[in-house]
Amino acid sequence: MNKKVTARAHTNIALIKYWGKKNPELIIPTTSSLSLTLDQFYTDTAVVFNSNLSHDELTLNGQPITDHTLLKTSTFLDIVRQMAGINTFARIESTNHVPTAAGLASSASGFAALAAASSKAAGLNLDRQALSRLARRGSGSASRSIFGGFAEWIAGEDDLTSYAHPIQENVTMDIQMLTVVLDGSVKKIGSRQGMQHAIATSPFYDTWVAESEVDLVTMKQAIANNDFQTLGELAEHNALQMHSLNFTAKPAFTYFNGDTLNILNLVQNLRHQGIQAYATMDAGPNVKIISQSTATQVICEAIKKDFPNATVEVAKPGPGISYL
Ligand code: DP6
Repeated sequence: MNKKVTARAHTNIALIKYWGKKNPELIIPTTSSLSLTLDQFYTDTAVVFNSNLSHDELTLNGQPITDHTLLKTSTFLDIVRQMAGINTFARIESTNHVPTAAGLASSASGFAALAAASSKAAGLNLDRQALSRLARRGSGSASRSIFGGFAEWIAGEDDLTSYAHPIQENVTMDIQMLTVVLDGSVKKIGSRQGMQHAIATSPFYDTWVAESEVDLVTMKQAIANNDFQTLGELAEHNALQMHSLNFTAKPAFTYFNGDTLNILNLVQNLRHQGIQAYATMDAGPNVKIISQSTATQVICEAIKKDFPNATVEVAKPGPGISYL
């Protein structure tokens, strides 16, 4: 106690998406999901519990935060306090190396880093499975950011059985994600709200759950076989299925904007030219292009030609949680 602990967690992008909860309070998902942790985007979070504090204090990128983000953080820390049997408040300093809330999943690295730093600062010594379960309580996708490389979040049935585990931490395949940032603004519909609306109103939701189970098996085989093409085709297909739930919700909504469709089109054109490139999108308009290092230059040139204002970040497989 009173010891400052700093943890680093990298963000992850799902190849088989999580889109809906069967238990919103404990964040138990309707489907298992599978992701790739990235080296480029991460969050560093320092936590110290201090009996002189009268409430939790949070800074994000050096700025004091007092809005709903602090409330979410305090609610999460209540779980940690309960586990550790303490009632002391904490000071949390978090630095995001992720464009916040633009569909680049800063909540995944954010809650993974917070789970690791706060549990250790509270005197707990959790193994990675327990850390994954704890991170899940903050944000579902954070459960996967405890691990490097390819990780699967097993849906499970309850708090004990819903956690991520590594599929392949040291990735053997040549794989990367090119993040094309065209719109760095904050998303209008949060993923939490969006997925609950899809589950409640899309007539295709049950089909999604059934299809996703099949996709997951094929994806794991593709990883085991180093089969990049199958992985890419399936990831794009799974992402489009997820987004079609939003198009078929009542009322319909989408995270896409015009540029999302233009980039999707560009990715398809690249494939027609024989370049292996596949798209995946999350709860924001930006597209991540799944590709191999040999194709980086040609893809970047195609993007620059059509979208001179776009920024492209190249991310490779990244590591799991670490303490600094
Ligand atoms: C589209 O993990 O942000 O990125 O559990 O409500 O915090 P909460 O949702 P969150 O949702 C991520 C959704 C997604 C797909 C994915 O990462 O699997």
